[in-house]
Amino acid sequence: MKSGDKYIPLEKLNSIKKEALENPEKFWGEQAKCLDWNKTWDKVLEWHVPYAKWFINGRLNACYNCVDRHILNNRRNKAAIIWEGENGECRILTYYELYREVNKFANVLQNLGVETGDRVAIYMPMIPEAAIAMLACARIGAIHSVVFSGFSADALAERINDAEAKVLITSDILYRRGKKIDLKGIVDKALLNCPTINHTVYVKRNNDLKLMEGRDYCWDELMKGAKNYVEPVPVEANHPLFILYTSGTTGKPKGVVHSTGGFMVYTTKTLEWTWGINDMDVFWCTADIGWITGHSYVVYAPLACGTTIVMYEGAIDYPNPGRIWEIIEKHGVTILYTAPTAIRMLMMYGEEWVKKYNLSTLRMLGSVGEPINPRAWKWYYEVVGQKRCPICDCYWQTETGGHVIYPPIGIQDIPLKPGSATFPGIGIDADVVDEYGNSLPPNKRGLLVIKNPWPGMLMGLWKNDARYRAAYWERIKNCYCPSDYAIKDEDGYFWILGRADEVLNVAGHRIGTAEVEHVLISHPAVAESAVIGKPDDIKGEVPVAFVVLNKGYQNKKELKEELIHYVKETMGPIATPHMILFVNKLPKTRSGKIMRRILKKLIMGEELGDLSTIEDNTSVDEIRKELSDFK
Ligand code: WT7
Repeated sequence: MKSGDKYIPLEKLNSIKKEALENPEKFWGEQAKCLDWNKTWDKVLEWHVPYAKWFINGRLNACYNCVDRHILNNRRNKAAIIWEGENGECRILTYYELYREVNKFANVLQNLGVETGDRVAIYMPMIPEAAIAMLACARIGAIHSVVFSGFSADALAERINDAEAKVLITSDILYRRGKKIDLKGIVDKALLNCPTINHTVYVKRNNDLKLMEGRDYCWDELMKGAKNYVEPVPVEANHPLFILYTSGTTGKPKGVVHSTGGFMVYTTKTLEWTWGINDMDVFWCTADIGWITGHSYVVYAPLACGTTIVMYEGAIDYPNPGRIWEIIEKHGVTILYTAPTAIRMLMMYGEEWVKKYNLSTLRMLGSVGEPINPRAWKWYYEVVGQKRCPICDCYWQTETGGHVIYPPIGIQDIPLKPGSATFPGIGIDADVVDEYGNSLPPNKRGLLVIKNPWPGMLMGLWKNDARYRAAYWERIKNCYCPSDYAIKDEDGYFWILGRADEVLNVAGHRIGTAEVEHVLISHPAVAESAVIGKPDDIKGEVPVAFVVLNKGYQNKKELKEELIHYVKETMGPIATPHMILFVNKLPKTRSGKIMRRILKKLIMGEELGDLSTIEDNTSVDEIRKELSDFK
């Protein structure tokens, strides 16, 4: 099916949106039929701010919906997971094969003493076993807590302990940029401080894996003796499907809890509305399963839709900048869902790399994680999508479970504006308000809020009610506050401006670091930038910008002055960077988020602390040198 075949008239979309807000119970009750339920709910929604319960007393199993129901029809032999390793190794699991593996592993978990409601930690690379482990947990009603495999031993232990996980599923090594990373070493260190873990299961990829008798097991060994079928446990819709930790404004991570029924309905429906996913699709979301995007749109929603997904272990520009395009051509990917930071990096390598490959299978594109600057949008649209593929800029968060502001290009050909995630999605009553909660007129910057509950909304924070209320519900009364700045333009399009909690205060004026960055990257010389606040005796704080230049631009004093002037002109004198540093690379997490806290510490000459999530250490060394040259 080509894109466009499923389009509905705009009036129809508007009436659906209207109904979803006016009669959410009727609307979501209808939508929930996209899943198979063991028992229908008694009530669609109970809403006592700030807690929503969806599909009360309904019973279902997420794993059944992602796997079992497809093997009962002609998807049985369809590829569920196309896995590719960094070295080009490839594994394909059909839905039937996935079914078999998931059943067996569910039995392995049972044999290790895991019961419904128990927590299981998953610390794994991007290999099919990671998805199998998640689905096996869901099958028996165990709550998984996936910890990104780039986290350090301390971070892993902290998350395991907060959730009091009984079992840890991991792997001995992972492959990244041609290197073997020793996960086992990290796990051993973490487990010194994890009293709740009884057993650890290792996917063995190296020959010399040393296991601790009675505690550690090898995945393959346990699978050998496992039963072929485990009855999926139908859980109440509000039984937690998983916990996923995310960072907040304080140092301690927040354990975001998602439900089974609401989460599954919301992610499945948003996947359909976003790209009109269908059986011809090969869907590649490049996110790691360690993040929410990997939960919602690598594993749960696509598999619930019976889609073929691509899972790739490795860097998308390794061993060469054409890697991502090579994979698209090789597997005939139809929808690519990635992040602006990846797009900017690929753009820097130049379009020659894209042109080497045949990308004619692509029909739609997606962007997520941060606002996409118009230049990157244009490149993505013209060079990657060859002006044929609409781009869905999806705004959402770990907490929202699924897309909340996005163009539903799967069902409607709505005009896009590069850099805008367009409109609040179906069933989302979003607005831009001032600090008192008053709706703002067009083009006024304010806080983004969501005024109603939606099925994908987090259930709360794991065992931390006070923090749940404080983090999301106290800033604006009775509204969910994602802590992002936004404006709504005169056509009602939403433009996300960046986090409302990474703000600078320059001489009494608040400046979003993301806003300054946005201006900088709109300059032709700038590929990427990160802005932080540097303490200043007079102004309180002044912005400092780290800039990665585009190919062909040179590190010259004149260019620095030009950029400073450019920001001053575009944003006003208070936003003027106090200094600009040209660097080759910004320190980033493996999920592509710029680590501003590290830049801040570098500027302040402070100890850097935990660097375990950083993608590439050389960025830090280079900045240190640049700073010492500057002084
Ligand atoms: C924050 C959430 C859920 C996606 C992965 C990140 C920013 C996310 C967009 C977008 C502008 C975006 C926001 C949000 N963000 N998508 N399309 N346009 N900003 O999940 O780690 O929970 O981060 O990412 O600031 O609050 P996350």
